[in-house]
Amino acid sequence: MAKKVLGGLLSLCVIGGLTLAVYLLINNKIAVGYNNDYEPTQPIPYSHALHAGKLKIDCQYCHTTASVSRHASIPPLNVCMNCHMSVRQVNGKDSPHIAKLVEDYEKGESIQWAKVHLLPDHVKFNHAPHVKRFNSEFQCQTCHGQIQEMEVVKQQSSLSMGWCVNCHRQPENNASINCGTCHY
Ligand code: HEC
Ligand code: HEC
Ligand code: HEC
Ligand code: HEC
Ligand code: HEC
Repeated sequence: MAKKVLGGLLSLCVIGGLTLAVYLLINNKIAVGYNNDYEPTQPIPYSHALHAGKLKIDCQYCHTTASVSRHASIPPLNVCMNCHMSVRQVNGKDSPHIAKLVEDYEKGESIQWAKVHLLPDHVKFNHAPHVKRFNSEFQCQTCHGQIQEMEVVKQQSSLSMGWCVNCHRQPENNASINCGTCHY
């Protein structure tokens, strides 16, 4: 009898605990797996401030798959070579960084860029519907911040569950907050 009561109490605690954990996660009260402000050093000092800001190259000129698939692709070197076949100098001086780029290209090697954003495997995220929905001049900035001002890319949003859910919840977004929408 005492065992039964104890067992009942224990399962109540477990259920209560789980409910609380889920509540806290959804409401952004506890932080799990956050990587905010992560800013790894890249093998070549490629600057978004220069290319996307000053030169005004469109984000999707390089990240071509963002509006059609799950992942936004990182451009292969031949995209860079569209310009750097001829652009070798910065301020009238040969740039050693561009020289490295050309060398890798000629050797048929790719650059091992350090990944900045990374969701855990149990989360489903797909760029395409988001990019289509935020179809404006700042469609990427909604989630990535002012990339066109960054010398080095830095993660601007927490990518936490609360961050996703808070936006889905806005009435004008009409996006689902069912667990199965974002989890396998
Ligand atoms: C000329 C090509 C080019 C353009 C234009 C460009 N990017 Fe990038 N982007 C890159 C390269 C190369 C990397 C990988 C190196 C790095 O992280 O800096 C990258 C990395 C990124 C990352 C980080 C990827 C990761 O590892 O998580 C984001 C986010 C991003 N770009 C967004 C944008 C946005 C938003 C714009 C437009 C405002 C843009 N990019 C314009 C070439 C480009
Ligand atoms: C609704 C928020 C949101 C919008 C809008 C968005 N991204 Fe992302 N982006 C993310 C998340 C979340 C990740 C991490 C994805 C992962 O790890 O699977 C990411 C990752 C990336 C990466 C790294 C490669 C990848 O897909 O994992 C690049 C590059 C990138 N985004 C570029 C862009 C560009 C360019 C745009 C605009 C055309 C854009 N993003 C719009 C949320 C967004
Ligand atoms: C649309 C043309 C264009 C594309 C595409 C382009 N660049 Fe550039 N890039 C330039 C120009 C122009 C400069 C020189 C700007 C200046 O004179 O200050 C430059 C400068 C650079 C520099 C020199 C920085 C320094 O201070 O030495 C690097 C590194 C670089 N780009 C890397 C890349 C990479 C990597 C890619 C592909 C992901 C790329 N670029 C794609 C036009 C481009
Ligand atoms: C800035 C707002 C915003 C953020 C942040 C955001 N979403 Fe969304 N999401 C939306 C909107 C709006 C839709 C509805 C798009 C549509 O179908 O028109 C959506 C739809 C989705 C869908 C359904 C896509 C489909 O195939 O129909 C998934 C899955 C999703 N989001 C996952 C995520 C995940 C995971 C995150 C966080 C890593 C996230 N979202 C962050 C606004 C956002
Ligand atoms: C709009 C997208 C979205 C929805 C809806 C969503 N989640 Fe999540 N969830 C995420 C993201 C992104 C993460 C990873 C970030 C983190 O760990 O905070 C996550 C992480 C989790 C984790 C793991 C925390 C850890 O320890 O890493 C659990 C458990 C979880 N979600 C449960 C749920 C449950 C239960 C629901 C339904 C009530 C739900 N999620 C609905 C996006 C979502």
